[in-house]
Amino acid sequence: MNIILLGPPGAGKGTQAARLVDERGMVQLSTGDMLRAAVKAGTPVGLQAKAVMEAGELVSDAIVSALIGERLDSTDAQGGAIFDGYPRTQAQAEALDRLLDERGQKLDHVIELAVDEEALVDRITGRFTCASCGEGYHDRYKQPLKAGTCDVCGSHEFKRRADDNEESVRTRMAEYRGKTAPILPYYDAKGVVRRVDGMASVETVSKAIDEVLDA
Ligand code: AP5
Repeated sequence: MNIILLGPPGAGKGTQAARLVDERGMVQLSTGDMLRAAVKAGTPVGLQAKAVMEAGELVSDAIVSALIGERLDSTDAQGGAIFDGYPRTQAQAEALDRLLDERGQKLDHVIELAVDEEALVDRITGRFTCASCGEGYHDRYKQPLKAGTCDVCGSHEFKRRADDNEESVRTRMAEYRGKTAPILPYYDAKGVVRRVDGMASVETVSKAIDEVLDA
């Protein structure tokens, strides 16, 4: 099954994708994660993407579609994938159709996480993760049980994304409104869009997504 999780920054795409990986053994293809790995490794793609990402703008369509194309050829993605943060433009949506078509696959669902943008600024600017195992925390909603110690692995190192400041978040929201939300009619016309209330609790959102996948 191939599904797209679509929604603005902080809508919960990564949270839900990680859960689907854990609970259903699905494969998560996050262009944001791929780009951050490239930045960290200092690859040519990473060097091009770093400043663009920190400013909250979109990396070029050619780069992200090439990253997705490479990953679709990995053995673990042969049975389908969760596209998290891709596509983000009309050109990327059309590229994904071609990439799936070339591999004899099709898109099953586009799950739109409908959210309130102001609440998202608060969600994003407060989040941080364990630098060792990646467990997610939040300044106000989910502090480690013992201050300064990761609940999962015991590490004392935490990190925040370079683009999780208010200025970048506002730019990321504007990019979503201007370039990503306009691709919804393209998918509406194909009859694959399923809308889920992304402002509900993580558990309620999970349940709504499960209902779509199991229908
Ligand atoms: P990317 O990494 O994709 O970031 P994003 O879209 O901005 O999304 P986030 O990861 O910030 O949010 P999310 O929806 O995954 O929310 P999360 O689950 O973490 O992209 C980063 C950058 O890379 C882009 O700006 C761009 O530069 C570049 N890029 C990536 N893909 C690209 C592409 N295709 N084309 C061009 N450029 C690209 O949740 C957020 C917080 O909320 C967490 O703290 C979480 O615990 C909490 N939370 C989640 N769900 C709930 C809930 N239901 N209730 C309460 N809290 C919740």
